[in-house]
Amino acid sequence: MAHTHDNIDWPTRLASMRRADDIDAETDRQVAGRLVGILAATAEPVIVDIGSGGGGMSAAFAGALAAHGGGRVVLSDAVPELLDAATAHVRDVAAGTPVAVDAVRADASSDQLADLLPKADLVWASRVVHHLPDQQLAIDELARVLAPGGWLALSEGGLATRCLPWDLGIGEPGLGSRLTAARDVWFVGMRAEMPGVKSLPVGWNKALEAAGLTGVSSFSYVIDHPAPASAEVRQSVVDWLTWMSGVGEDGLSESDHATVARLLDPADDAYVGARDDVFILGASTVYLGQKAG
Ligand SMILES: C[S@@+](CC[C@H](N)C(=O)[O-])C[C@H]1O[C@@H](n2cnc3c(N)ncnc32)[C@H](O)[C@@H]1O
Repeated sequence: MAHTHDNIDWPTRLASMRRADDIDAETDRQVAGRLVGILAATAEPVIVDIGSGGGGMSAAFAGALAAHGGGRVVLSDAVPELLDAATAHVRDVAAGTPVAVDAVRADASSDQLADLLPKADLVWASRVVHHLPDQQLAIDELARVLAPGGWLALSEGGLATRCLPWDLGIGEPGLGSRLTAARDVWFVGMRAEMPGVKSLPVGWNKALEAAGLTGVSSFSYVIDHPAPASAEVRQSVVDWLTWMSGVGEDGLSESDHATVARLLDPADDAYVGARDDVFILGASTVYLGQKAG
């Protein structure tokens, strides 16, 4: 926990992050292909994945770079347990291809980040900047990691993930919405407690422009695992409910706590991991900006 600013025990999240990466592999492949497509004119591009988590997108970038003819993927994370596991996974994926895989352990809020990392043709930073105290300063530093003409792809925001039917047949209808509201309250508190926290009172596109990047644009993509879902997707719903009810604990009523306990009990008829009416539906937004050539 001491490695990051958010008081989150990241190593305990590894297994669920890897499971999410597995089910989202096809979506990640498409997003990585789209971004590597922007680098079509660059021989052997260098891609840096900041806050690489379980390594799902780095693995997708390795695949896209192999199809491109070669390149280098550099994973970077502050949490050694995650970085080591993710790097081993991506090295497996890249074995036998002309893609090099490296790892750099670093705090993404460090003002020395650009000195620790190689100059990148693409920096991918997904859902990590909101874990840093000064988000504008962090984006400024990510821009410094870019080679001339390089691109920053910042994945932040989108739509809150939905997994549950409105009426579960137990408890009060609308649990999914109350979980999202409780998570949002936790998120505000999580940021408020960070030493040195600063607000970012603009949308992410403005933050990229403030970092000196040009041609700023954004696109969103859907994560869609419809019902009836596979066992793997249902397990990810268990992971999602465990996380949401954990961080949102203080914001849920006693009745909702009782419902969640039943939904997470494998011995209960209502166990969410065995229901054929759960699903995963969400959307992610990617903000893109280019450094002057
Ligand atoms: C929500 S996860 C996102 C993982 C992955 N990028 C994704 O989108 O699935 C946040 C990641 O950022 C990492 N992280 C959190 N704070 C960090 C920091 N200060 N410096 C670098 N990495 C950090 C965590 O260890 C974790 O891997």
